[in-house]
Amino acid sequence: MSETVKKQPFFYDITLRDGNQSLKKPWNTQEKEIIFNHLTELGVQGVEVGFAAASEMDFEACSRLSQISPDNIVISALARCIKHDIEKAAEAIQSAKKQRIHTFIAMSPFNMEYVLNKTPQEVRKQAIEAVSFAKKLMGNKSEIQFSVEHFGDCSENLDFVIESLQEIVKAGATVINLPNTVERTRPSIFVQMVEKVYNALPKDITISVHNHNDLGMATATTVESYFKGAVQLECALNGLGERAGNTNMYEVAVALHNAGVDVPLNLSKIYELALIISDMSNVRIYEKAPLIGPEALAHRSGIHQDGAIKTKDMEKGAYRPIHPSLIGRKDDEKLGFTSQSGKTAIFEIITEAGYPITLGEAQRIAPVAKEAAEKIGELSTRNIIDIYYQNILTVKGAFKFVDIEKLSDEEIRLQFKYKGNEYNVVSFGNGPIDQCIKAIQKAGFNIEFINYEQKALNMGSDATGMTIMYFKAPEGKTIISRGCDENTFMANIKAIFNGLNIIENEKEII
Ligand code: KIV
Ligand code: ZN
Repeated sequence: MSETVKKQPFFYDITLRDGNQSLKKPWNTQEKEIIFNHLTELGVQGVEVGFAAASEMDFEACSRLSQISPDNIVISALARCIKHDIEKAAEAIQSAKKQRIHTFIAMSPFNMEYVLNKTPQEVRKQAIEAVSFAKKLMGNKSEIQFSVEHFGDCSENLDFVIESLQEIVKAGATVINLPNTVERTRPSIFVQMVEKVYNALPKDITISVHNHNDLGMATATTVESYFKGAVQLECALNGLGERAGNTNMYEVAVALHNAGVDVPLNLSKIYELALIISDMSNVRIYEKAPLIGPEALAHRSGIHQDGAIKTKDMEKGAYRPIHPSLIGRKDDEKLGFTSQSGKTAIFEIITEAGYPITLGEAQRIAPVAKEAAEKIGELSTRNIIDIYYQNILTVKGAFKFVDIEKLSDEEIRLQFKYKGNEYNVVSFGNGPIDQCIKAIQKAGFNIEFINYEQKALNMGSDATGMTIMYFKAPEGKTIISRGCDENTFMANIKAIFNGLNIIENEKEII
C-alpha cells in the first residue's frame, strides 16, 4: 500500500478486554455497559467485549454487550486456540448482529520454546485447527480474527509466520492481527514486518495492528503501520492495557486526523470520555499526557507564552498540535508564571483575574515576579495579584505623600517628602487633581499631567475606586499610574504619587 492510498481506518477498541484485564479491579457487567455506550457514541467500528472463557463475569459481560450492541458495530470475544475457549466466545457473542471470534497463539521463537513448549510445526497446526474449528462452528454468521501473539518478536522467523498466516487465511480467518505484544523493537522495523505480511496475503484480508506501549512508541508504530496497509487499529481508551498499556486511541485518532486521514470517530467526545475512563478505572491521567493531560495546554516559557497568546483563537496554534476544541476540551491554553516566563503571562493572569493592567505595566513587574519565582517556583494567581498590589497599586520610590488639607474650594495645602526632604506647598487650581499637580510643580518638580479616568472596581471582597493617570515623563514617554482606594479623592492622590515614583524610577513606557 503506498503512503498516498488512504482507506478509512477501522478502530477496534480493546479497552474492555486488554484494558480491563490490566485493572486492579476489573469492571463488572454494568460498568462495562457504561463504557460500551460511550464507545458507541465515540463511533468505534469494533469492540472486543471480553475474554469469554476467562471468568463467569467476563462471559456475562460479553453476552450482555452483544445483546445491546448496535447493528453496525463488530462485537468480538477473545479465545485461545482451544476449542473450549472458542465455543465460549461463540456462545457469548451470539446476540450480536456483527460477530467476530478472535483467536490467538504466540509464534515468536522465544515464546514457542520457553512459554508454549511447542515446536513451530505444532503451533502452526494448532492455529490452523483453531481457525478451521471456529469457521465451521460459526459459518457465515461470524468473522474470524487471528492474532500472532508476539509478532514484534518474529523478525527471525517471519517467513514461517507468513507461511502460517497464508494457511490460516485459507482455513477461514479474514482479519490478521499483528501484535507488538511487548514493545522491544524500533517502530520502523515493526512497520516493515507489517508491510511484508500485507504484501504476502490476499488483498481482501484485513491487516490489523495491536501495539503495547512498553517503550512509549505504540502510537507512532500504529500510525505508521496504517500507512503500510494495516487498516484495523487496535487501541484502548486512555491507553489502558497490560504494563505500560495499549496504544492510546485518542493519540492515534488525532495523529491520523492531522495527517489528513478521514477518521471515523466523534473526536469531540475524547476529552470528556478520558475523564470518565480515568475515574472508572482509577488510573489517573498523567499530567503531561498528550492531548488529555492537565498540563497538555500549559506554557511556561516566555517565548512559548507569547506565541500561544498570539495564536490562541486560531485553529493552528504556535505551541499546540490541535485546537483543544477538536477533542472537546473547553479549557484554554494555560500560562503558568515561573522564572522562565515573561510579561505575557503576567498580563494574561492579571487580566483573567479581573484586574486592569497594560502590557507595559506587566513588563515593569515581570522582573519582580521572576525573582519571586526563582525562590518558590511557579507563582499562583494569588502571588501574582499580590505583586500587582505591591508594585502597580503601590509604587515605592523617592516621593512620599504625607497629608493634604483643603483650604477652600480652589486652594489646598499639600505635604509630601522627596528623598527625605519635606515639602509643604499651598496651591490653587481647578479641582483637587489640578490643585495637587500644581502644588508638586510649584515645589519644583517637572511633571506634565495628560489625563485621568476613574473606574469602579470590585477587587476581591472590596468595592473600590481606581484612578488611572497618564503623565508625560521628562523624556517624552507617556506613563500610566494607578491608585486604588474606597475614597475617590485618596485614589487620586495615590495615583499621582505612584506616577511620580514611576517617572522617578524611569521604568514605565506605554
Ligand atoms: O498483546 C497481545 O498480543 C494480545 C493478543 C491476545 C491480541 O493482547
Ligand atoms: Zn495485548
